[in-house]
Amino acid sequence: MDIRIANHRAERLSNVRPSMIMGLVQKAREMTDAGETVIDLGIGEPDFTTPDHVKQAAIEAIKNDESRYTTIAGTLPLRRAIEAKLKRENQLDYRVNQITVCGGAKQVIFNAMMATLSRGDEVIIPAPYWSSYPDIVAVADGVPVIVDCPQQQNFLISPEQLEKAITPQTRWLMLNSPSNPTGGVYHESHLLALAEVLNRHRHVMVLSDDIYEHLLFDGRTFTSILNVAPNLKDRVLVVNGVSKVFAMTGWRLGYAAGPSDIISAMNTVQGQSTTHASSISQAAAVAALEGPTDFFAERATSFEKRRDIVVGALNTAEGIECISPEGAFYVYPNCAGVIGQRTPEGNEIASDVEFCTWLLDAHRVSTVPGAAFGLSPHLRISTAASVADLQEAMTRISQACSQLERG
Ligand SMILES: Cc1ncc(COP(=O)(O)O)c(C=O)c1O
Repeated sequence: MDIRIANHRAERLSNVRPSMIMGLVQKAREMTDAGETVIDLGIGEPDFTTPDHVKQAAIEAIKNDESRYTTIAGTLPLRRAIEAKLKRENQLDYRVNQITVCGGAKQVIFNAMMATLSRGDEVIIPAPYWSSYPDIVAVADGVPVIVDCPQQQNFLISPEQLEKAITPQTRWLMLNSPSNPTGGVYHESHLLALAEVLNRHRHVMVLSDDIYEHLLFDGRTFTSILNVAPNLKDRVLVVNGVSKVFAMTGWRLGYAAGPSDIISAMNTVQGQSTTHASSISQAAAVAALEGPTDFFAERATSFEKRRDIVVGALNTAEGIECISPEGAFYVYPNCAGVIGQRTPEGNEIASDVEFCTWLLDAHRVSTVPGAAFGLSPHLRISTAASVADLQEAMTRISQACSQLERG
């Protein structure tokens, strides 16, 4: 008799962490369901709704029976709309065979890593990072090389740090601007300096995650590394999607543009997994990308105002220090000043995870600890909530901090 017990988990999952963010979101929702007035500043999605003309396009697609399999890379009308968008908004020239559409930007990144990494290949990830990057790399048998980029450097990787992190095994550099979780933005001169390093290391590719490109503040505009270093075009993968800019997180629609061999390899991965993004979401995305864009500026201004409220309030809270982000809808305050302090319940706050847990349990504000993004002690606060909720949450955080005593 064979006495082995079934092993349900693949070895490749041993380096993959379950999502800390979703765990906290779940806990906040359970508390809300139990009747508590939790203010949820944990989740990373805009609080606007999908534009009406986009919803209408999806309804039409359903009525017109656009319900069959599409091509793996996405419908031609959508890839043409992406081609035109990249030209119009980013001054980038791609042909439709250099574009692929996936079920969200997350799947774009997943497909890219599965398509290009072999065991032991390294991916440079500046920390703090969007929490899925290292785990996607690990699923694809790659090695995440985390480079700490603290607050003093606006959470951005310096050219010297990049140079030092590159080895013969490096395959990719992950660049995300504006950044989740910090709202940090890479400007032209910084991108040029990074490009100079990359020019010396021609085996390194760049994944440029531009998903927050339209959420820039204080009159700034978005610059891609390809705008300052077009010579890198044969090794940059531009990643984007409709989730954040059109408030379409649930529609699951992302896209990439890049060298046709990478795109073709990504299509091979997709062809043996999800096949393609939903045909209805693809039709909606055509309407989104070809439709009006005047609301981008309005939304950016709205997030800019909320950023100012939150940053101003946080900097008056004892033990918290917050720099003002230049984009996206997150702030990433440093909470070093509360570490080692004691709560009125008599517990010592030993980490940002404990601080966030206490803020949720005792003060009913849901945030995400810096540990989820690879740089502690911090917390990520989403500003995608109403001004009233943000003000109430800031009052609660301030009161919480004033209750702490030296341990
Ligand atoms: C930096 C970054 N990249 C990619 C994604 C994934 O977006 P999507 O909803 O298109 O999968 C997110 C979502 O939070 C993000 O913050």
